[in-house]
Amino acid sequence: MKAAEIRRKFLDFFASKGHQIVSSSSLVPHDDPTLLFTNAGMNQFKDVFLGFDKRPYTRATTSQKCVRAGGKHNDLENVGYTARHHTFFEMLGNFSFGDYFKRDAIHYAWEFLTSPAWLNLPKDKLMVTVYATDDEAYAIWHEEIGVPAEKIVRIGDNKGAPYASDNFWQMGDTGPCGPCTEIFYDHGAHIWGGPPGSPEEDGDRFIEIWNNVFMQFNRTEDGVMHPLPKPSVDTGMGLERISAVLQGVHANYEIDLFQNLLQAAAREVGVPFSMDVPSLKVIADHIRACSFLIADGVMPSNDGRGYVLRRIIRRAIRHGYKLGQKQPFFHRLVQDLVNEMGDAYPELRQQQAQIEDALKQEEVKFAETLENGMVLLEAALANQATTLDGATAFKLYDTYGFPLDLTADICREREVTIDQAGFDAAMEAQRALSRAASSFKTQGQLEYSGSDTRFEGYDNSSVDAHVLALYKDGQAVNSLNAGDEGVVVLDCTAFYAEGGGQVGDRGEIAAAGGVGALFDVVDTQKVTATAFGHHGTLARGQLQVGDSVQATIDLHARRATERNHSATHLLHAALREVLGKHVQQKGSLVNHERTRFDFAHTGPVTADELAEIERVVNRVVCANYAVDCRLMRHEDAIKAGAMALFGEKYGDEVRVLKMGEFSTELCGGTHVERTGDIGLFKIVTEAGVAAGVRRIEAVTGEAAVAYVQAQDALLRDAANQLKAQSTDDVGNKIHALQDHAKALEKEIARLKGKLASSMGDELTAQAQDIQGVKVLAVELEGADSAALRETMDKLKDKLKSAVIVLASRSSDKVQLAAGATADVCKKVKAGELVNFVAAQVGGKGGGKPDMAMAGGSEPAKLPAALASVADWVNSQLAKA
Ligand code: ALA
Repeated sequence: MKAAEIRRKFLDFFASKGHQIVSSSSLVPHDDPTLLFTNAGMNQFKDVFLGFDKRPYTRATTSQKCVRAGGKHNDLENVGYTARHHTFFEMLGNFSFGDYFKRDAIHYAWEFLTSPAWLNLPKDKLMVTVYATDDEAYAIWHEEIGVPAEKIVRIGDNKGAPYASDNFWQMGDTGPCGPCTEIFYDHGAHIWGGPPGSPEEDGDRFIEIWNNVFMQFNRTEDGVMHPLPKPSVDTGMGLERISAVLQGVHANYEIDLFQNLLQAAAREVGVPFSMDVPSLKVIADHIRACSFLIADGVMPSNDGRGYVLRRIIRRAIRHGYKLGQKQPFFHRLVQDLVNEMGDAYPELRQQQAQIEDALKQEEVKFAETLENGMVLLEAALANQATTLDGATAFKLYDTYGFPLDLTADICREREVTIDQAGFDAAMEAQRALSRAASSFKTQGQLEYSGSDTRFEGYDNSSVDAHVLALYKDGQAVNSLNAGDEGVVVLDCTAFYAEGGGQVGDRGEIAAAGGVGALFDVVDTQKVTATAFGHHGTLARGQLQVGDSVQATIDLHARRATERNHSATHLLHAALREVLGKHVQQKGSLVNHERTRFDFAHTGPVTADELAEIERVVNRVVCANYAVDCRLMRHEDAIKAGAMALFGEKYGDEVRVLKMGEFSTELCGGTHVERTGDIGLFKIVTEAGVAAGVRRIEAVTGEAAVAYVQAQDALLRDAANQLKAQSTDDVGNKIHALQDHAKALEKEIARLKGKLASSMGDELTAQAQDIQGVKVLAVELEGADSAALRETMDKLKDKLKSAVIVLASRSSDKVQLAAGATADVCKKVKAGELVNFVAAQVGGKGGGKPDMAMAGGSEPAKLPAALASVADWVNSQLAKA
């Protein structure tokens, strides 16, 4: 039975038992900081188990994409070396949210595995484990299902702490957890290994195929187990493992899906296919994890999820390198993966090009350092040591881009370990250096421990306020005098402090009631998370702590900034619509002049795509949606589909900005009231800023009009200069000009040649008589080789008995032609003559005795070379 069919059957079985079939969630858990990647089917239901979230169903079943690399469940090191570890795998699961519990869960599992209508596995090949104290589960297995006592193993806290057990499952250090019962398959006595709980349990004979977790607790950070509102069920069966069982093979790599990927890996690496090469398994495994991660928006980078992806890609590349493949190959396996899994996971097919691009870029990048790093590592390993020193491991990491686990992987093949302490020390030393470097930057920070600044600038452009603190030269002062540069902290302000990509407001702070102090604000920055500093210069008067003031922003600049900020949200949504859902914001800067938006995408955005993005944004502008802004609980906002940025910290309560149904984002910035306020959106540039990151700059409103007008003026000017009827005609005019220029160039070349050959008449007079032979060596300005040849023929006719050298030169080249009339060419050979001259101008040539051509590269030496011809001919004639 093929893997695809097993996946289908599982979902059908549980659907027939009243379960809702739910799609796999993304590998990137959007709302869960405790999790690096989705590592189990239950992740997307975590809040349902905890009672925070309600679904319209109480039973669900999924086939879930999982990655176990980095984080709590990490299998990366084992991949390729065991029969059943993967970085990426599919978990089949059924879930009960306070609906059925142990009894039904166990009965369902047994029916699906053993019923002839479903998988029809022989019962005697199965055995089970239960948590040591779970008498209830034991009784169901033994008394209701009829599993003999010798095939039920109780497993206690075998991992050194209460609830630390193979039969107590938890998602991470915190979160839902509970005791579990696991079902094992016996692959037969010919394979080494013992039943669970025995000393030989780590062998490959008895393989766990299905884990049924009885979710009962929520573990919090303090280690306390809080009972869940309703006992629930979470199960997980690795699709690859159950496929191996049903396909009568032992190792996951022998199943249909992997066989094709292994074949593809062998093909691309250029080695014969074999099941005994761990590197091929590593590559076949890793292409799945990498492709699925990229499809879900992760891009290789130097931290977080992106770094785990980079480690997996580099590990795959290194295994290819080990098999002798030094060219990029990994990205070519994406097609094979799409063939295998594209039907079940359409995102693979949709994002195929992006995945291939991202992998290829990463391959090209790592190729630059892999080879050199390997030389360094080989040298360090050559002395037969059993430990690799930490400094070398760190250098490989820091300079050559070898993730530590990649170095460890190579070392393991040689039975060498890494001096981890030495590596950590080298890393810490470097961190200390960069901390020292960055502490200079923080010197500019102000010390402030006063009250918060109330921000009233969402609705007001001018507010009454009091001065809470003043700073001059970085130090707190009681007053500022006219001409002083400084920072003003107010109890309340209309000024937006730089944050979330939007620059700080500018404007003025004036003493209340008229002609007193006036402070010009050029920028607003946060002094602390909740206090705003207004930076600028006191233009007149004196400002003191405690003064009453009116703080008024430059409304014109603010409005322009708002247009750009709102347009940035629309641009983000339009990019995702036009380029695909992999587009994720990587950074932005919004000021009153323009918006700059960085996002994950490989390869340039084409002119057509840019035009489409502009059209989409301007369509939403014209729709004139009200910009709706409300405060929500963070979780509710994410559930409502709001886009949040990875790595951004949001409080419990977030501001959600919605423009029609088109864009919903978390944002603290200031925005237009209706999308129509943006006026016009125009992209100005598009370029790459880092691997896999593109940057678009765009303008809106008046700036967009100014931009379009400037472009228009340029075009009109061009039309005028071209004497075009209208700007529409500019293209035609340019083509016509180009054609005309080409025709002129041809004509000039023809005329130059003609001119050169017509000079032949005058040249005959310059010929010298040497032993009865006319000898002529001259330069013909502007002649090409055809003209040289033509002139040569004419001169031979005229001079009758002659030896001739004609030359022409440009700034860096010399052309030579040598000829001798029939009566002379036995004595003076043109081929030899041309070489004699060419040798003096840095070239060589050849030809027949009567006519030969040559080139040279040293034009400056031509006059002397020509002057030497007469003597040479003289000596040749003398010899003859
Ligand atoms: N969540 C359980 C597991 O991953 C089923 O094993």
